[in-house]
Amino acid sequence: MKTQPRHVAIIMDGNGRWARTRGLQRYEGHAQGARAVRDTVETAARLGIEYLTLYAFSVANWQRPRVEVEALMRLLARFAKQERAELRSLGIRVGVIGSLEDLPSTTRHAVEDLIRYTSTGDRMTLSLALSYGGRQDMVEAARALAAQVHAGLLLPEEIDEERLRAQMSTHRLPDVDLLIRTGGEARVSDFLLFEAAYAELLFTPVMWPEFRPEHLLEAIDTYRGKERRFGLTSEQVQAGAVDAAGLSAFDPKDHLPAPQLLDRARAS
Ligand code: IPE
Ligand code: IPE
Ligand code: MG
Repeated sequence: MKTQPRHVAIIMDGNGRWARTRGLQRYEGHAQGARAVRDTVETAARLGIEYLTLYAFSVANWQRPRVEVEALMRLLARFAKQERAELRSLGIRVGVIGSLEDLPSTTRHAVEDLIRYTSTGDRMTLSLALSYGGRQDMVEAARALAAQVHAGLLLPEEIDEERLRAQMSTHRLPDVDLLIRTGGEARVSDFLLFEAAYAELLFTPVMWPEFRPEHLLEAIDTYRGKERRFGLTSEQVQAGAVDAAGLSAFDPKDHLPAPQLLDRARAS
C-alpha cells in the first residue's frame, strides 16, 4: 500500500494534560490546541489529503465542568470567525458531523457561517466532529430507517450497508483510511466506529498542542508502509484482489445516490 490516505481522521487529545503539566488552566491547553488545528489543516491541504476529519467535541464532553465546555464553545466560535478567510483561500470546504444543533447559538451561527463561506472549496473537505458520538450517529440512522419502514417506504430486507450509511451524519465522507490519536491513549472514544472499520490506527504520545506538521508527515509515511488487506491474504492483495473485489474503503462516489424512496412510494 504505497498510496497516500484519502481520508485522515484525528482524535485531538491531550490539551488538558499539556496545560496542567505547565501549571496552566485546561482551557489554555485548548487555546494552544487551536493553533495545532490551524497548522494541521493547512498541512493536510497542501499534502493533497482530500478529507480531514477532526474530533473537536464528543457527546460525552458535554459532561465536563461547565466552565470548560463554555471555554471550548467560545474557542470554536473564535476559530470559525478567525480562520474562515484563510480556509476559503486554501480551497477548504468545511462541514460538520454530529449534532450542530446541540451547540449554543453563538457558536452554532459562527460554524454555520463558516460552512456557507467555504462551501465552494474543492481542494479538501474539513469535517469538524461536534457533539459527535459514533453510537449516537448509528442509533439515529437506525431510527430514520425504522421510520421509513413504518411509513411503508422501505422493506426491512432492503436495509443494507449503503442505506444505513446514507442516514449517518458522515454520509458524504469516504471510509477513514488513517485514524490518528494524540495524547498517548490507545482508544477510539466513540469516534467513527462504523467508518473506521478498516482504518489504520496510529497512536502517538505527542499531546495535541504539540502536534506539528512533521508529526502528520510521519504518520502518513507510516501509513504508506502498511499493507491493507481487508480480510484477504497478502498474496491476494499483491495479485490485485482488493481492488478487483471492490474491497477497498467505502467511497460515496462509487455508489448511487441514496434510493429515491419517495418516488417508489408514489409509484406504488
Ligand atoms: C482533547 O483534549 C480536547 C477535547 C476533548 C475537547 P482533552 O481536554 O481531553 O485533554 P486531556 O485528555 O484531558 O489531556
Ligand atoms: C476524545 O477525547 C474526544 C475529543 C478529542 C474531542 P476524550 O478526552 O474526551 O476521550 P477519553 O475521555 O479520554 O476517552
Ligand atoms: Mg482527553
